[in-house]
Amino acid sequence: MGRFKQQILTEALEIVKLYPEAKSATIPLCHLAQSVDGYLTKDAIDHIAELTGTTPAEVYGTASFYDMIQLHPVGRYVIGVCTNIACMLQGGYELLEEAEGTFGAAVGETSPDGLFTVEEVECLATCDRAPCLHVNYRYFGPLNAEGVAKLKEDLIGGQLESKVPVHGVLSRVKRQTPELIPMDEVDNLRASEDASKAERTSAQGGSNA
Ligand code: FES
Repeated sequence: MGRFKQQILTEALEIVKLYPEAKSATIPLCHLAQSVDGYLTKDAIDHIAELTGTTPAEVYGTASFYDMIQLHPVGRYVIGVCTNIACMLQGGYELLEEAEGTFGAAVGETSPDGLFTVEEVECLATCDRAPCLHVNYRYFGPLNAEGVAKLKEDLIGGQLESKVPVHGVLSRVKRQTPELIPMDEVDNLRASEDASKAERTSAQGGSNA
C-alpha cells in the first residue's frame, strides 16, 4: 500500500479526529495500515507520522514495542503457538514442532508459498485449551498432530474464512463513529487547547520564579 489511498485515508482522518491529541491515533493507524498490507510498510510509517504530527522514528518506536504490529512481511496467516507454562506441560513444544512441519515454516519464518508464518508466543490467556495456538488472533485448542493437519486443510480450503480473516484485519466489524465534528472545528479546538496549555505553563513559570 505504501501511503494511505483515498478510501483508507478518509478512514484514517476519521480515526485521528476521535482523539484530543492526534498522536494518540498512532496505534489505531498502524492497525489500519496493517489491515491493508498485512504489515506496516515504511511508507505507511511516514504517512502515519504526517497524520499524527510525529516523526517516523516515533511511529517506528511505538510500533516496534507491540508484538501485534508486524514490521516485516508475514504470511496470510500468522500462527502463534503458545509454549508458556500451562501449554508447555500439555505438550506446547511438541505442538510447535508439529506446526513448523505442517505449515512448512520454522519459528519466525514464512512458508515458501507465503501463506503461513509461525511464531512462538507467550500465554494467550486460553490456558484451559492447552496446548493451543492462535491463527491471526483466533484461538484453537487443545490441538494434537491431527488437529494441526486439519487446521491447515480448513484454512487452505476456506472452511475457516468466516472465523479467520487475513492477517492484519483485527475485526471485520468497522467501528461506528457518531456524526463527526468538521475537521476545521477540531483544529480550532486543538489550537485553543494548546493556547490554554501554553498559558498554564507560563503562569507556572511565573509562580516558580
Ligand atoms: S499457557 Fe498457553 S494459553 Fe496460557
